[in-house]
Amino acid sequence: MARPSWSGRRRPDPQPRRPLPHFGFGRRPAAVALIRTQALRHGYRTGGELVWALDGVSLGVERGEFVAVMGPSGSGKSTLMNLIGCLDTPSQGGYWLDGIDVTGLARRALATIRNRKLGFVFQSFSLLPRTTALENVELPLLYSRVPAAERRRRCLALLDEVGLAHRIRHTPAELSGGQQQRVAIARALVNDPMVLLADEPTGALDTQTGRDIMAILQRLRRERGLTVVLVTHDAEIAAYADRVVTFRDGRVVSDECRCPDPCPPGASADHVGS
Ligand SMILES: Nc1ncnc2c1ncn2[C@@H]1O[C@H](COP(=O)(O)OP(=O)(O)OP(=O)(O)O)[C@@H](O)[C@H]1O
Ligand SMILES: [Mg+2]
Repeated sequence: MARPSWSGRRRPDPQPRRPLPHFGFGRRPAAVALIRTQALRHGYRTGGELVWALDGVSLGVERGEFVAVMGPSGSGKSTLMNLIGCLDTPSQGGYWLDGIDVTGLARRALATIRNRKLGFVFQSFSLLPRTTALENVELPLLYSRVPAAERRRRCLALLDEVGLAHRIRHTPAELSGGQQQRVAIARALVNDPMVLLADEPTGALDTQTGRDIMAILQRLRRERGLTVVLVTHDAEIAAYADRVVTFRDGRVVSDECRCPDPCPPGASADHVGS
């Protein structure tokens, strides 16, 4: 049987963008926080003992904010990032992302939200070895079924944006740590997310390279209106953020706004001391 042909008919949208499933919300209030958690708790059971890695975290992050998350090892920072990143679901409490209550969603819907709204950067870069910088950045788009020419155009533009236009054919082993992290940032942005979640993105880099990465994140935030939530142990890195939230034993112990006084409208009016 002949294969169906599109000739003579309008081609389908080359990049079908199915609407997100309707999660029970009608029109959302305009001022809704992009990220809001309410009394969030997350426990791990090990050897019969239940450890509350997060123990009642209520936090709001507005669109365009740059938030640094700090705290000692084991205080729950990565657990929070996993929950905000929809990589895990909380044991108790509420979490709304862009007005959507994500706590009750099935795995498939969570994957859709991750793909559409969130970008991730990790300390270890998490690039595929033996795969070029260009192919690494392209990877998330393969799952989105974006046509090859559009994929390439987008990835080249992003690699250029992070200053790696001259290294697109290099594999991770042929790149420095800072260059690998820049590839990872380009990959995180390829689906044009609203939020970039970065768990110790400079942890494996020397001081100057860490500063270079932070300058890139700051520029992306400014130019793209990206919301950035970043975990760090380094006060110098946290100083790039306009808000620093500190954790201890799974709880927020301080939430310090560094916006110009007063906070810009809609930026962080309700976060101080929350
Ligand atoms: N998969 C797991 N199973 C059991 N316990 C876990 C698991 N992941 C984390 N924990 C526990 O939860 C607590 C918080 O861990 P988490 O990784 O969130 O800390 P963190 O603040 O990111 O620490 P670090 O700065 O060292 O990365 C710790 O007590 C840890 O032992
Ligand atoms: Mg961690």
